[in-house]
Amino acid sequence: MSRKHILVARRTPAEVIEKLSAHFEVDAVEGDEVLAPAALRERLRGKAGAYIFGSERITAELLDACPDLRVVSTMSVGYNHIDVAACTARGVLVTNTPDVLTETTADLGFALLMAAARRMGEGERLLRAGGWQRWSWDFMAGADVHGSTLGILGMGRIGQAIARRGRFGFGMRVVYHNRSRLPAQVETELAARYLSKDELLAVADHLVLVLPYSAESHHCIAAPELARMKRTATLVNIARGGIVDEDALAAALREGRLGAAGLDVFEGEPQVNPALLTLSNVVLTPHVGSATIPTRLAMAGLAADNLVAALTGATPPTPLNP
Ligand code: DGY
Repeated sequence: MSRKHILVARRTPAEVIEKLSAHFEVDAVEGDEVLAPAALRERLRGKAGAYIFGSERITAELLDACPDLRVVSTMSVGYNHIDVAACTARGVLVTNTPDVLTETTADLGFALLMAAARRMGEGERLLRAGGWQRWSWDFMAGADVHGSTLGILGMGRIGQAIARRGRFGFGMRVVYHNRSRLPAQVETELAARYLSKDELLAVADHLVLVLPYSAESHHCIAAPELARMKRTATLVNIARGGIVDEDALAAALREGRLGAAGLDVFEGEPQVNPALLTLSNVVLTPHVGSATIPTRLAMAGLAADNLVAALTGATPPTPLNP
Protein backbone atom coordinates (compact mmCIF):
# COMPACT_ATOMS: atom_id res chain seq x y z
CA MET A 1 0.00 0.00 0.00
CA SER A 2 1.38 3.42 -0.86
CA ARG A 3 2.37 5.62 2.06
CA LYS A 4 0.22 8.60 2.99
CA HIS A 5 1.61 12.10 2.52
CA ILE A 6 1.62 14.66 5.30
CA LEU A 7 2.75 18.25 5.75
CA VAL A 8 4.67 19.55 8.77
CA ALA A 9 4.00 23.26 8.47
CA ARG A 10 7.05 24.61 10.34
CA ARG A 11 10.39 23.60 11.82
CA THR A 12 9.92 20.95 14.51
CA PRO A 13 12.28 18.68 16.50
CA ALA A 14 14.22 16.14 14.43
CA GLU A 15 12.87 13.21 16.47
CA VAL A 16 9.34 14.21 15.47
CA ILE A 17 10.22 14.18 11.78
CA GLU A 18 11.86 10.78 12.32
CA LYS A 19 8.77 9.38 14.05
CA LEU A 20 6.48 10.69 11.32
CA SER A 21 8.80 9.50 8.52
CA ALA A 22 8.52 5.94 9.84
CA HIS A 23 4.87 6.01 8.75
CA PHE A 24 4.43 8.70 6.11
CA GLU A 25 5.99 10.64 3.27
CA VAL A 26 6.78 13.87 5.10
CA ASP A 27 6.90 17.28 3.45
CA ALA A 28 8.54 19.33 6.22
CA VAL A 29 8.75 23.10 6.04
CA GLU A 30 12.17 24.06 7.36
CA GLY A 31 11.76 27.64 8.55
CA ASP A 32 9.85 29.25 11.40
CA GLU A 33 7.72 31.53 9.25
CA VAL A 34 3.98 30.92 9.12
CA LEU A 35 3.02 29.88 5.59
CA ALA A 36 0.73 32.40 3.91
CA PRO A 37 -2.77 30.97 3.27
CA ALA A 38 -2.11 30.39 -0.46
CA ALA A 39 1.22 28.66 0.23
CA LEU A 40 -0.35 26.50 2.94
CA ARG A 41 -3.11 25.50 0.52
CA GLU A 42 -0.58 24.57 -2.16
CA ARG A 43 1.61 22.55 0.22
CA LEU A 44 -1.44 20.74 1.63
CA ARG A 45 -2.83 19.59 -1.70
CA GLY A 46 -2.78 15.79 -1.92
CA LYS A 47 -1.81 15.47 1.77
CA ALA A 48 -3.78 13.28 4.15
CA GLY A 49 -2.42 14.90 7.30
CA ALA A 50 -1.42 18.37 8.50
CA TYR A 51 0.90 18.85 11.47
CA ILE A 52 0.42 22.50 12.32
CA PHE A 53 1.12 25.00 15.08
CA GLY A 54 -0.86 27.81 16.68
CA SER A 55 -0.88 30.18 13.72
CA GLU A 56 -1.70 28.21 10.56
CA ARG A 57 -5.37 28.88 9.87
CA ILE A 58 -7.50 25.94 8.82
CA THR A 59 -10.63 27.36 7.19
CA ALA A 60 -13.57 25.85 5.33
CA GLU A 61 -12.14 27.31 2.11
CA LEU A 62 -8.81 25.60 2.66
CA LEU A 63 -10.50 22.29 3.47
CA ASP A 64 -12.49 22.49 0.23
CA ALA A 65 -9.29 23.12 -1.71
CA CYS A 66 -7.60 20.11 -0.05
CA PRO A 67 -10.16 17.30 -0.18
CA ASP A 68 -7.57 14.60 0.60
CA LEU A 69 -6.97 16.04 4.06
CA ARG A 70 -8.23 13.65 6.78
CA VAL A 71 -6.44 14.78 9.94
CA VAL A 72 -5.30 18.15 11.35
CA SER A 73 -2.98 17.81 14.33
CA THR A 74 -2.09 21.07 16.05
CA MET A 75 0.85 21.35 18.41
CA SER A 76 -1.05 23.65 20.73
CA VAL A 77 -3.80 23.35 23.27
CA GLY A 78 -5.66 26.33 21.77
CA TYR A 79 -7.51 25.65 18.53
CA ASN A 80 -9.17 28.95 17.67
CA HIS A 81 -7.08 28.96 14.45
CA ILE A 82 -9.00 25.89 13.23
CA ASP A 83 -12.60 25.89 12.04
CA VAL A 84 -13.42 22.69 13.92
CA ALA A 85 -17.07 22.70 12.80
CA ALA A 86 -15.99 22.88 9.15
CA CYS A 87 -13.55 20.00 9.76
CA THR A 88 -16.25 17.90 11.42
CA ALA A 89 -18.68 18.59 8.58
CA ARG A 90 -16.08 17.26 6.11
CA GLY A 91 -15.04 14.27 8.19
CA VAL A 92 -11.63 15.77 9.06
CA LEU A 93 -10.38 14.77 12.51
CA VAL A 94 -8.78 17.50 14.62
CA THR A 95 -6.42 16.86 17.53
CA ASN A 96 -4.61 19.22 19.94
CA THR A 97 -2.11 18.90 22.81
CA PRO A 98 -3.83 19.44 26.17
CA ASP A 99 -2.49 18.39 29.59
CA VAL A 100 1.22 18.25 28.74
CA LEU A 101 1.54 22.05 28.94
CA THR A 102 -0.80 22.71 31.87
CA GLU A 103 1.74 23.14 34.68
CA THR A 104 4.30 24.98 32.56
CA THR A 105 1.70 27.48 31.36
CA ALA A 106 0.38 27.95 34.89
CA ASP A 107 3.96 28.67 36.04
CA LEU A 108 4.24 31.47 33.48
CA GLY A 109 0.84 32.85 34.46
CA PHE A 110 1.90 33.00 38.07
CA ALA A 111 5.26 34.52 37.17
CA LEU A 112 3.49 37.29 35.24
CA LEU A 113 1.11 37.88 38.13
CA MET A 114 4.02 38.27 40.53
CA ALA A 115 6.11 40.34 38.15
CA ALA A 116 3.25 42.75 37.46
CA ALA A 117 2.05 43.00 41.06
CA ARG A 118 5.58 43.52 42.42
CA ARG A 119 6.64 45.87 39.61
CA MET A 120 9.54 43.65 38.59
CA GLY A 121 9.65 44.72 34.94
CA GLU A 122 9.56 48.37 35.91
CA GLY A 123 12.27 47.88 38.56
CA GLU A 124 14.51 45.99 36.19
CA ARG A 125 14.19 48.60 33.46
CA LEU A 126 14.91 51.39 35.94
CA LEU A 127 17.96 49.64 37.34
CA ARG A 128 19.43 48.88 33.89
CA ALA A 129 18.90 52.51 32.89
CA GLY A 130 20.92 53.68 35.91
CA GLY A 131 17.85 55.13 37.62
CA TRP A 132 18.26 53.44 41.03
CA GLN A 133 19.42 56.17 43.38
CA ARG A 134 18.10 55.65 46.89
CA TRP A 135 15.67 53.81 49.13
CA SER A 136 12.39 55.42 50.09
CA TRP A 137 9.42 53.87 51.88
CA ASP A 138 7.30 53.62 48.73
CA PHE A 139 10.08 53.06 46.18
CA MET A 140 8.81 50.38 43.73
CA ALA A 141 6.12 49.41 46.25
CA GLY A 142 3.50 47.22 44.62
CA ALA A 143 0.65 44.94 45.65
CA ASP A 144 0.83 41.87 47.87
CA VAL A 145 0.29 38.49 46.28
CA HIS A 146 0.20 36.23 49.36
CA GLY A 147 -3.06 36.31 51.25
CA SER A 148 -4.87 38.29 48.54
CA THR A 149 -7.86 37.30 46.41
CA LEU A 150 -7.02 35.45 43.23
CA GLY A 151 -9.70 35.61 40.54
CA ILE A 152 -9.64 33.14 37.68
CA LEU A 153 -11.78 33.56 34.57
CA GLY A 154 -11.96 30.17 32.83
CA MET A 155 -11.49 27.25 35.17
CA GLY A 156 -10.22 24.48 32.89
CA ARG A 157 -7.01 22.56 33.46
CA ILE A 158 -4.71 25.61 33.42
CA GLY A 159 -7.12 27.66 35.55
CA GLN A 160 -7.14 24.90 38.16
CA ALA A 161 -3.34 24.69 38.10
CA ILE A 162 -3.19 28.46 38.75
CA ALA A 163 -5.70 28.02 41.58
CA ARG A 164 -3.49 25.37 43.24
CA ARG A 165 -0.48 27.67 43.09
CA GLY A 166 -2.44 30.54 44.59
CA ARG A 167 -4.20 28.56 47.28
CA PHE A 168 -1.47 26.19 48.45
CA GLY A 169 1.63 28.22 47.59
CA PHE A 170 0.51 31.70 48.52
CA GLY A 171 -2.46 31.27 50.85
CA MET A 172 -4.74 33.19 48.47
CA ARG A 173 -8.53 33.14 48.49
CA VAL A 174 -9.51 31.63 45.14
CA VAL A 175 -12.64 32.78 43.34
CA TYR A 176 -13.55 31.88 39.79
CA HIS A 177 -16.05 32.15 37.00
CA ASN A 178 -16.48 29.58 34.27
CA ARG A 179 -19.16 28.66 31.75
CA SER A 180 -19.97 25.66 33.90
CA ARG A 181 -19.40 25.38 37.60
CA LEU A 182 -16.85 22.81 38.83
CA PRO A 183 -18.09 19.72 40.66
CA ALA A 184 -18.44 20.40 44.40
CA GLN A 185 -15.59 18.00 45.21
CA VAL A 186 -13.15 19.88 42.94
CA GLU A 187 -14.25 23.22 44.39
CA THR A 188 -13.57 21.82 47.86
CA GLU A 189 -10.16 20.44 46.88
CA LEU A 190 -9.12 23.80 45.43
CA ALA A 191 -10.95 25.81 48.10
CA ALA A 192 -12.32 27.76 45.15
CA ARG A 193 -15.57 29.76 45.28
CA TYR A 194 -17.76 30.19 42.21
CA LEU A 195 -18.92 33.76 41.50
CA SER A 196 -20.75 35.53 38.69
CA LYS A 197 -18.42 37.29 36.26
CA ASP A 198 -19.37 40.70 37.67
CA GLU A 199 -18.73 39.59 41.26
CA LEU A 200 -15.40 38.11 40.23
CA LEU A 201 -14.29 41.35 38.59
CA ALA A 202 -15.24 43.33 41.68
CA VAL A 203 -13.47 41.21 44.32
CA ALA A 204 -10.29 40.01 42.60
CA ASP A 205 -7.00 41.57 43.68
CA HIS A 206 -5.40 39.68 40.80
CA LEU A 207 -7.41 38.36 37.87
CA VAL A 208 -5.99 35.69 35.55
CA LEU A 209 -7.63 35.07 32.17
CA VAL A 210 -7.45 31.45 31.09
CA LEU A 211 -10.57 31.01 29.01
CA PRO A 212 -10.67 29.78 25.40
CA TYR A 213 -10.93 32.38 22.65
CA SER A 214 -14.10 32.37 20.57
CA ALA A 215 -16.61 34.85 19.13
CA GLU A 216 -18.25 34.74 22.56
CA SER A 217 -15.10 35.61 24.51
CA HIS A 218 -13.83 38.26 22.03
CA HIS A 219 -13.14 41.46 24.04
CA CYS A 220 -14.97 40.04 27.05
CA ILE A 221 -12.62 42.22 29.11
CA ALA A 222 -13.27 45.73 27.78
CA ALA A 223 -13.96 49.16 29.30
CA PRO A 224 -17.11 48.16 31.29
CA GLU A 225 -15.40 45.10 32.80
CA LEU A 226 -12.23 47.03 33.62
CA ALA A 227 -14.36 49.68 35.32
CA ARG A 228 -15.73 47.00 37.68
CA MET A 229 -12.26 45.97 38.82
CA LYS A 230 -10.38 47.38 41.81
CA ARG A 231 -8.12 50.30 40.94
CA THR A 232 -5.24 48.38 42.50
CA ALA A 233 -5.94 45.09 40.72
CA THR A 234 -3.58 43.15 38.47
CA LEU A 235 -4.83 41.63 35.21
CA VAL A 236 -2.98 38.68 33.69
CA ASN A 237 -3.74 37.27 30.24
CA ILE A 238 -2.20 33.94 29.24
CA ALA A 239 -5.12 32.84 27.05
CA ARG A 240 -5.50 34.73 23.77
CA GLY A 241 -4.98 38.41 23.05
CA GLY A 242 -8.41 38.91 21.50
CA ILE A 243 -10.07 38.29 24.86
CA VAL A 244 -9.00 41.77 26.02
CA ASP A 245 -9.77 45.12 24.41
CA GLU A 246 -6.16 46.33 24.51
CA ASP A 247 -6.98 50.01 23.91
CA ALA A 248 -9.35 49.99 26.88
CA LEU A 249 -6.75 48.15 28.98
CA ALA A 250 -4.01 50.63 28.06
CA ALA A 251 -6.30 53.55 28.96
CA ALA A 252 -7.19 52.02 32.34
CA LEU A 253 -3.53 51.37 33.15
CA ARG A 254 -2.45 54.82 32.01
CA GLU A 255 -5.17 56.62 33.96
CA GLY A 256 -4.56 54.65 37.18
CA ARG A 257 -7.92 52.86 36.99
CA LEU A 258 -6.12 49.50 37.11
CA GLY A 259 -2.95 48.66 39.03
CA ALA A 260 -0.91 46.58 36.62
CA ALA A 261 -1.07 43.96 33.90
CA GLY A 262 0.96 40.95 32.84
CA LEU A 263 0.38 39.92 29.23
CA ASP A 264 1.74 36.93 27.35
CA VAL A 265 -0.70 37.14 24.41
CA PHE A 266 -1.71 39.98 22.11
CA GLU A 267 -4.49 40.54 19.65
CA GLY A 268 -2.20 41.30 16.69
CA GLU A 269 0.79 39.23 17.79
CA PRO A 270 3.65 39.23 17.05
CA GLN A 271 2.77 42.94 16.77
CA VAL A 272 2.01 44.58 20.11
CA ASN A 273 -0.41 47.47 20.53
CA PRO A 274 1.92 50.52 20.78
CA ALA A 275 -0.19 51.96 23.61
CA LEU A 276 0.90 49.04 25.82
CA LEU A 277 4.56 49.47 24.99
CA THR A 278 4.68 52.94 26.49
CA LEU A 279 3.32 51.93 29.91
CA SER A 280 5.50 51.16 32.90
CA ASN A 281 2.87 49.16 34.81
CA VAL A 282 2.63 46.31 32.33
CA VAL A 283 4.89 43.28 31.97
CA LEU A 284 4.99 41.83 28.46
CA THR A 285 6.21 38.41 27.32
CA PRO A 286 6.12 37.05 23.75
CA HIS A 287 3.53 34.21 23.98
CA VAL A 288 5.81 31.83 25.86
CA GLY A 289 3.33 30.15 28.23
CA SER A 290 4.38 26.64 27.23
CA ALA A 291 7.96 27.51 26.30
CA THR A 292 10.18 25.12 28.21
CA ILE A 293 12.16 22.50 26.31
CA PRO A 294 10.58 19.48 28.09
CA THR A 295 7.07 20.81 27.57
CA ARG A 296 7.61 21.77 23.94
CA LEU A 297 9.07 18.30 23.27
CA ALA A 298 6.07 16.70 24.99
CA MET A 299 3.69 18.79 22.89
CA ALA A 300 5.56 17.97 19.69
CA GLY A 301 5.55 14.26 20.54
CA LEU A 302 1.86 14.23 21.40
CA ALA A 303 0.97 16.05 18.16
CA ALA A 304 2.96 13.39 16.25
CA ASP A 305 1.31 10.53 18.17
CA ASN A 306 -2.10 12.00 17.37
CA LEU A 307 -1.32 12.21 13.66
CA VAL A 308 0.16 8.71 13.46
CA ALA A 309 -2.75 7.14 15.35
CA ALA A 310 -5.42 8.98 13.41
CA LEU A 311 -3.95 8.10 10.00
CA THR A 312 -3.23 4.47 10.84
CA GLY A 313 -6.70 3.60 12.09
CA ALA A 314 -5.91 3.79 15.82
CA THR A 315 -7.54 6.08 18.37
CA PRO A 316 -5.56 9.32 18.78
CA PRO A 317 -4.74 10.24 22.39
CA THR A 318 -6.34 13.69 22.36
CA PRO A 319 -8.96 14.18 19.65
CA LEU A 320 -11.13 17.31 19.57
CA ASN A 321 -13.94 16.05 17.33
CA PRO A 322 -13.87 12.24 17.62
C1 DGY B 1 -1.22 26.84 23.00
O1 DGY B 1 -0.74 25.71 23.10
O2 DGY B 1 -2.39 27.06 22.69
C2 DGY B 1 -0.27 27.97 23.20
O3 DGY B 1 -0.92 29.15 23.45
C3 DGY B 1 0.60 28.10 21.98
O4 DGY B 1 -0.14 28.54 20.90
